[in-house]
Amino acid sequence: MCGIVGYNGPRNPKDVILDGLRRLEYRGYDSAGVAILHNGEFKRVRASGKLSELSKKLEGEAFGGRLGIGHTRWATHGVPSERNAHPHKVEGVSLVHNGIIENYQEIKQELRQLGAEFTSDTDSELVAHLIARQVRATGDLFKAVQQVIPRLKGAYSILAVWEKQPDTLVAFKNGPPLILGIGDDEIIVASDVQAIVSYTKKVIYLDDFEIAHVRGSDYKLFSATGEPLRKPVHVLNWNADAIEKAGFRHFMLKEIYEQPRAVAQAIAPHIDLERMRVRLSGVGFGVPYEKLEGLDAEQDAAKTAQQLSGIDRIFIVACGTSYYAGQVGKYLLEILARVPVETDIASEFRYREPVIPPHSLVIVISQSGETADTLAALRLAKQAGAMTMSICNVKRSSIDREAQGHLYMNSGVEIGVASTKAFVSTLALLNLFALFVARSRGQLTAEQEKHHLEALLAVPAQMETVLSYDKWFGEAAEQLKGYRGILYMARGANYPIAMEGALKLKELAYMHAEGYAAGEMKHGPLALIDERMLIMMVAPTDHHYEKTLSNLEEAKARGGHIISLGTGDNQELKRLSQYYLSLPKAEWTVSPILAVIPLQLLAYHVADNLGHDVDQPRNLAKSVTVE
Ligand code: AGP
Repeated sequence: MCGIVGYNGPRNPKDVILDGLRRLEYRGYDSAGVAILHNGEFKRVRASGKLSELSKKLEGEAFGGRLGIGHTRWATHGVPSERNAHPHKVEGVSLVHNGIIENYQEIKQELRQLGAEFTSDTDSELVAHLIARQVRATGDLFKAVQQVIPRLKGAYSILAVWEKQPDTLVAFKNGPPLILGIGDDEIIVASDVQAIVSYTKKVIYLDDFEIAHVRGSDYKLFSATGEPLRKPVHVLNWNADAIEKAGFRHFMLKEIYEQPRAVAQAIAPHIDLERMRVRLSGVGFGVPYEKLEGLDAEQDAAKTAQQLSGIDRIFIVACGTSYYAGQVGKYLLEILARVPVETDIASEFRYREPVIPPHSLVIVISQSGETADTLAALRLAKQAGAMTMSICNVKRSSIDREAQGHLYMNSGVEIGVASTKAFVSTLALLNLFALFVARSRGQLTAEQEKHHLEALLAVPAQMETVLSYDKWFGEAAEQLKGYRGILYMARGANYPIAMEGALKLKELAYMHAEGYAAGEMKHGPLALIDERMLIMMVAPTDHHYEKTLSNLEEAKARGGHIISLGTGDNQELKRLSQYYLSLPKAEWTVSPILAVIPLQLLAYHVADNLGHDVDQPRNLAKSVTVE
């Protein structure tokens, strides 16, 4: 969703803001703009389309001041256009906004009655009007913001500047993230640390209903009601190199190749290699968030085991790719730990009045940790009295901070809108979690646990071999893109992988795709099959194999063109398929981690061959901070 950058310091604000916005491009946007101080006023330049359009307009523009704000907009209210692009400017107040003002109709009507005129169709402009009215009354931007906050319903993070106080920037939020980067003689405020990390590693994470009052390189933090706050300054331990393409054509391809390492990093903290046991480390159920880092791993693992042993039911709630990871988790947890698991799409869960019995654990999965529906589902689960645990990639994200227990994907920054490495890391974590719960409930012998851990530890090396299909899909893409659509099918723990494969094709190649349980084929989708429909059948040699084979025969008999994914050198699958791709022999628990890689590569190469923007597919955003 929208990206925000504000700069107050001695560098050229135009350069810092544009650089920051470029690093936030992955969030998805359709227009961009800046307002930078020059000769006592904030000069505004906006453009529809990509940042390159804004850069062109800014070429040759000189700005004399130290202060500026910038924005990449993902349209919610009003079409993508220059007129609707941020910053919005009303009587010397300039403002950028990420989120949705839910009571904007009411505010608009009220402002209209007071004679206000609007120059955009956005909800954001109304906030600029409200602040402009208050600065007129109070003569102070900070006080004006304080008075406006109670008027706003919805989710927002906002930066505001006013030309009568040309050294001041005010940042406030309720919902989408906002971070303060503290440099030596400069402050950068942004939606995400990516925009900050080239300049400083010191950051403060604003919480909801907090205001940052930045004057020059000085900052003060307040609650919405004006109480001064002291908040810790965190030091980031990664640098700007982590967010470069490192020679790959796209971030997504780089991230696909990073998957073996991502899985290794995700599982490393949680395995006691000497005893070959899972030792969930740092989950910290109920430990205050700021004390998590000092936890004693052994003690916490023992406490976590005890807390989980009393759980009767698990809910896994997430959106999109994270939801499919959760569905794999259901197979793992139910089969290994014999605990009933319900999976839910967060936007359904939060509104369907779910029955959450006592002794339930609700696991929310979110790479970004900011997905609005998943965050709302987490809050609902807490209100219902459930134990909650998050699986996030972004530490200190809203979901991570609000959950009672925490697991981290440890995938490193994921820039491509299409999630890849975070997905496989989540599968690996759910695998460990299922083993841990299984042992806590007495469902797993030490020998079985060791066997499953060996399978998981072997998987990063096996993933490397599957990555060699990159070349094959690169060559096959020209032909594959000609199909009317692709039907992805599988059974068991690979069934969610079929759905994930279909989602990847839809979001990147904009082609029609369906993910189906292979056993459902005769209940409808068989009618879709002809020689223009490609079937991607995930058929590893497991206890579903014979049945999947019959489904493949049925598809072939109806003229379907088939790519099959199987184990080793499988002659049967070769006979039935146009193309056969071999996966390494693996336990069913880790097979989804291997099987998803060819599906990611397929979507990537077909999309690239079609000339699509692979890292930023149309209409999509990396971090979906509005529902
Ligand atoms: C993944 O390729 C998608 N872009 C999307 O489905 C994503 O997984 C979903 O929006 C959830 O995001 P989250 O993991 O950050 O909550």
